[in-house]
This record gives sequence, structure tokens and C-alpha cells, in this order.
Amino acid sequence: MESQVRIFSGTNTKYLATSIAEAYGVEVGKAEVRRFSDGEICPVILESIRGDYVFLVQSTVAPSDNLFELLLLIDSARRASAAYITAVIPYFGYARQDRKDKPRVPIAAKLIANLLTAAGTNRIMTMDLHAPQIQGFFDIPVDHLESSTIFIPYIKSLDLHDVTFAAPDVGGVNRARAYAIHFNKEMVICDKYRKRPNEVSAMTVIGDVTGRNVIICDDIIDTGNTLSNASDLLLSRGAKSVRALITHPVLSGKAYENIERSSLTEVVVCDTIPLKKESRKIKILSVADLFATAILNMYEHKSITSLFINN
Ligand code: R5P
Repeated sequence: MESQVRIFSGTNTKYLATSIAEAYGVEVGKAEVRRFSDGEICPVILESIRGDYVFLVQSTVAPSDNLFELLLLIDSARRASAAYITAVIPYFGYARQDRKDKPRVPIAAKLIANLLTAAGTNRIMTMDLHAPQIQGFFDIPVDHLESSTIFIPYIKSLDLHDVTFAAPDVGGVNRARAYAIHFNKEMVICDKYRKRPNEVSAMTVIGDVTGRNVIICDDIIDTGNTLSNASDLLLSRGAKSVRALITHPVLSGKAYENIERSSLTEVVVCDTIPLKKESRKIKILSVADLFATAILNMYEHKSITSLFINN
């Protein structure tokens, strides 16, 4: 009998797994994440997946229980004789710890890659890794989707003139450049210096934004400090407006308040992570159709790159 596509979800991305499954034309598979009274996680897949292509959807945003749940789901699927397991991780957490930039720190992203592989996944499907080279931490295939597939049509729908793209830090230069090249526009760079995680100590802008509608492109918004500082700086340098397109809305600490109070016109994010509340400045675009198409293409052995606008 032919292998079927079966989509299952961890706890934190149920809303997204449901939309992906709907876009694909199947129902989310029956699974439950049970807990012992001490909090130990005990997931159970409630239907046979023997010989099937199993897709386990879970973003590994904090707390680490989300990651652990995914590892246990992979183990369950492997022991239940799935033919092929793909961990669908719309937001790959711990990716900011991707290098040993000071003594005696972990390379967490590499450790997570090892754990996922050891648990038994055959493939990873994810989106906008903090650094694309994290794909090299895996010795199994990684389908790395790009949020530009979603953001480019959105930018076109704005019908904005005098647009300039901005990288909010040096790490985001390639991302902003890709948009600038696609739209044949200029780009600027905000040079950010941090003394410790989440705290921006100083920022300066390289390039001219006078009279421009600036679009900042980034992979993560966490506390919102980077974005609100960049927005103030760009406006003080003569920008007409500043908006942001950010793939992963981590939004911790006082992020919502920071965004509300900021000089940003809007912050457009993807639904790779569930939002804790609504905000008049935050607009959400769904990645469900893109992931559903990527799952179909993977299953039918068709190109995933063909889904990218800039390919
Ligand atoms: C850092 O390199 C990332 O791309 C983001 O700019 C950063 O994680 C945003 O953090 P926060 O919102 O806390 O400033």
C-alpha cells in the first residue's frame, strides 16, 4: 500500500498545524500530549502511522518543553514504524546560539540539531533560520523555506513609493539586500552593538534615508528593542515612515508595550509562533499555504526551491 501524508502537531503550534493540514486537504492526525503529575511529558500518537510519511509540526520556541515534546513525538513516530519522519519546525529556537563567540558558551543550535537527528527524524523543514548555515549542523536534508515568499506580495500590495530597505543589524544585511535587489531599491544598515543578549547599547545607521519609506527586514523580534531603536534612529535621520517585516514573533518581556509605544507604522509577522495577544500595530501573515505546498512537493519529490520568489 502507498505511504500516506500524515500531519501531527505538538501543543504550541496546533493552530498552524490545523491550517497546514487544511491547506493540504487532510485532517491533523490524532495525538495527545499527556503529562505525569510531576510535569514529565508523555505524547501518544492515537492512530496507526505504519509505513506513512509523517510530518510533526512544532516550533521550538521557549520554554524548552516545546523542543522536548517534539523529540518525544519523533521517537514515538519512529517506534510506530513511520516510513519517513519530517520535523516541521516553523521557528527553530536556540538558533541565536550558533557559534562560540566567547569562551565557555555552548553552540546550542548544533546540540539541538544532534538531538533531533538522534531522536530519529529523517528530515527538517523550517523557515528563515537565524543563520542559513545552521543547515550545515544537520547531516540530514533540511528544507529551508523563505518568508520572502509571503512578504514580497505583501510589500507589492502596499503600493508604497520611495522605499528603502534596512537591515537592523549587520547580521541582517543579506536578508535586506535580497529585498533591495528584488525591488531594485537602495538599502541601509543599522549597526547595532550589544553588551548582553536583548540589550541594545548603541546603534548607528550607514546610508541615507532622507524622505524614504523604510522597510526593516529581520528574522526575529524578541523584546522589540532592536526594532524600536532602529525606527527612532531612521526617523531622526529623515525617514518618512518606518515599518518592519519580521518572520518570527518571539515577543517576550515588554515586547508588546515596546511595539505599541514605538515610532513604527506597523510590524508584519508570520504565524510561525503563536501570539500571546493582539496589537493594533502587529499584522499577521500565515505560512500555512507555503508549508502545505512544501509538504506536497517533498512527498511528490518535486522542487522546494521552485516555491521561492527569488530563485
Ligand atoms: C538578532 O541578531 C536578531 O536578528 C534580532 O535582531 C534580535 O533577536 C531581536 O531581538 P530584540 O527584539 O530583543 O532586540
